[in-house]
Amino acid sequence: MKALVYKGTKQVAVEDVPDAKIQEPVDALIKLTTTNICGSDLHMYEGRTSVEQGKVLGHENMGVVEEVGPGVQFVKVGDRVSVPFNIACGSCRNCTQGWTSFCTRMNPTEGMDGAAYGYANMGPYDGGQAQYLRIPHADFNLLNLPEGHELENDFTMLSDIFPTGWHGVVLSGMQPGDRVAVFGGGPVGLMAAHSAMLMGASQVFVVDKQADRLKLAESIGATGIDFSAGDPVEQILDNTGGVAVDRGVEAVGFQAHDSAGEEHPELALDNLVNVVRTTGGIGVVGVYVPSDPGLSDPSAADRVGWQYGTFFTKGQQMGTGQAPVKRYNRQLRDLIITGRATPSFIVSHEVPLEQAPEAYDKFDQRVDGYTKVLLKPNG
Ligand SMILES: NC(=O)c1ccc[n+]([C@@H]2O[C@H](COP(=O)([O-])OP(=O)(O)OC[C@H]3O[C@@H](n4cnc5c(N)ncnc54)[C@H](O)[C@@H]3O)[C@@H](O)[C@H]2O)c1
Ligand SMILES: [Zn+2]
Ligand SMILES: [Zn+2]
Repeated sequence: MKALVYKGTKQVAVEDVPDAKIQEPVDALIKLTTTNICGSDLHMYEGRTSVEQGKVLGHENMGVVEEVGPGVQFVKVGDRVSVPFNIACGSCRNCTQGWTSFCTRMNPTEGMDGAAYGYANMGPYDGGQAQYLRIPHADFNLLNLPEGHELENDFTMLSDIFPTGWHGVVLSGMQPGDRVAVFGGGPVGLMAAHSAMLMGASQVFVVDKQADRLKLAESIGATGIDFSAGDPVEQILDNTGGVAVDRGVEAVGFQAHDSAGEEHPELALDNLVNVVRTTGGIGVVGVYVPSDPGLSDPSAADRVGWQYGTFFTKGQQMGTGQAPVKRYNRQLRDLIITGRATPSFIVSHEVPLEQAPEAYDKFDQRVDGYTKVLLKPNG
């Protein structure tokens, strides 16, 4: 089968790889209809993780069930399904509490709980930027979708970024009527803004410097804040008559940069601590890594120095981590079906798998208009 393979920093290629196949009785095999490129893939693409060469990438997957193992009871051949990016056993301590993103059993990497498809440190699993994908514990992990092809570009957001954006807002402790500031206007930040609106925020700010992304934020009724035009904290304070916001969502990650493009991993965290009111909350879904192999100063690689003292003094709360997709994807699917949620508003490109290397390059450079790329591996 054809698949998108990681070859080294800023190098990916579509190659013939061994066919994905059922390995355990509880596995299913799916034929991909849509698989997305994610901002998380860019951390690997840019050589900022320890991902091994030859890995098939892709954790935002949906498709149709092609085959099931003898131990699969409920999933049937022909079912149209969304695949949460988390690979979960369904029965460990964290899975039974709804924290499938911290499954204690599926990732053999020392010191890491939580597994995923096609991702650095998240276990030996290949990704779905390919024609076929093996799904462990299929009955537990797969979410059924209505048959057919409708709403494909909305449902494809259920595997990761819509639940992740939603999770960021939940972690912030948002209540209806709250004002929310979302840092990062990429796909995850835009999904957080969409989620905050759906949950009843009174006002949502989205901070970025990419004009096309700020425009998308404004298209759903958020207020765009361009951090290249001045301090985003001051801009939001000016906009709220000095009262700041109740909640903040971090959707940038450890590669946060200033308006000149220089990286400062603490920048978005510091801005959030300063713009959220005392006793407010912050949800961090942007990714931070235990150790950053891309930093020139190795002594700084495993720590991010941020304004913890201000955070403490303001009595704020913070929640972090990979999103447990299964906790939300069923309800979000139904919001899509009834037309209340339309996460497809961020889709910018739909291309065949063969064009994935070019799409990685352009998305990585945030070329104007490259917001969310959907790959169609089977035509
Ligand atoms: N927690 C999870 O489960 C989960 C799931 C998916 C993605 N992620 C992470 O979420 C983050 C965002 O993902 P994405 O797909 O939207 O990526 P993206 O790279 O497309 O978007 C990040 C955006 O942040 C902006 N940005 C950079 N520095 C900034 C700053 N100082 N202030 C405000 N904005 C700034 C960039 O211009 C860019 O538009 C990534 O770190 C990704 O790995 C986490
Ligand atoms: Zn993703
Ligand atoms: Zn588990």
